[in-house]
Amino acid sequence: MRLILLGLPGAGKGTQAHVLADQLGLLHISTGDMFREAAANRTELGLRAQEFMSRGELVPDEVTIGMLLERIAQPDAEKGIMLDGFPRTIPQAEALDAALGERDSQIDAVLYIEVPEDQLMSRLTGRWTCAGCGAIYHEQTNPAPEVLDCCTDAKLTQRADDQPDTVKARLDTNREWTEQLADYYEAASKLHHIDGTGDPSDITARLLAAIETVPTTAAEA
Ligand code: AP5
Ligand code: MG
Repeated sequence: MRLILLGLPGAGKGTQAHVLADQLGLLHISTGDMFREAAANRTELGLRAQEFMSRGELVPDEVTIGMLLERIAQPDAEKGIMLDGFPRTIPQAEALDAALGERDSQIDAVLYIEVPEDQLMSRLTGRWTCAGCGAIYHEQTNPAPEVLDCCTDAKLTQRADDQPDTVKARLDTNREWTEQLADYYEAASKLHHIDGTGDPSDITARLLAAIETVPTTAAEA
């Protein structure tokens, strides 16, 4: 299966992708995580991306599309993919469709996790992430354990772009594109609206229920 998780910053894409990709045997690909890793390694691509990320802006398509297409062409993507944070623009969506089409493949479903915007600021400013494995916590709603043992390199960090001013910029940047992408995939009859409020495990169940409705031929592809 080839699935996309769509949603504003803080909607819960990463939280759900960690659970679902594992459960469904899919490769989780987060372009945000790829850029952060490249920035931490101080590669040319990472340092360029960091300039945009620190302002809450999108990294330009010419950088992002090439990086993503290269990643999904790797052998480990053949088992199926769960995209988190890509596409974020219509040109990205079109490039993805074209690249998959060349391999007689396609996106099977787009899961649009919807959360009222007034809940997103507190979700993001209270987020803590493990630098070792990417496990996602929240200081109120999902506190990390006293002794962090999620991986061998466990260490909690806060994302630089989770400061209130940058969160506001990210929401402003993403609002319009997210709606445009929802329309794009609605027109292709691939969009599933998912209520992203409430307990994360309830949201996982809603996502799985939507995925079960994806036609069997696509599900077996
Ligand atoms: P990216 O890393 O993708 O960030 P984002 O889209 O802003 O989304 P987040 O990761 O902040 O939120 P999320 O939906 O994953 O929520 P999470 O599960 O962590 O991108 C970062 C930057 O990279 C972009 O701004 C851009 O610059 C660049 N970039 C990336 N992709 C790009 C692209 N394709 N094109 C151009 N530029 C690109 O949850 C958030 C918090 O909420 C956590 O603390 C979690 O514990 C909590 N939480 C989760 N679920 C619940 C719940 N149900 N109830 C209460 N709290 C919850
Ligand atoms: Mg994320």
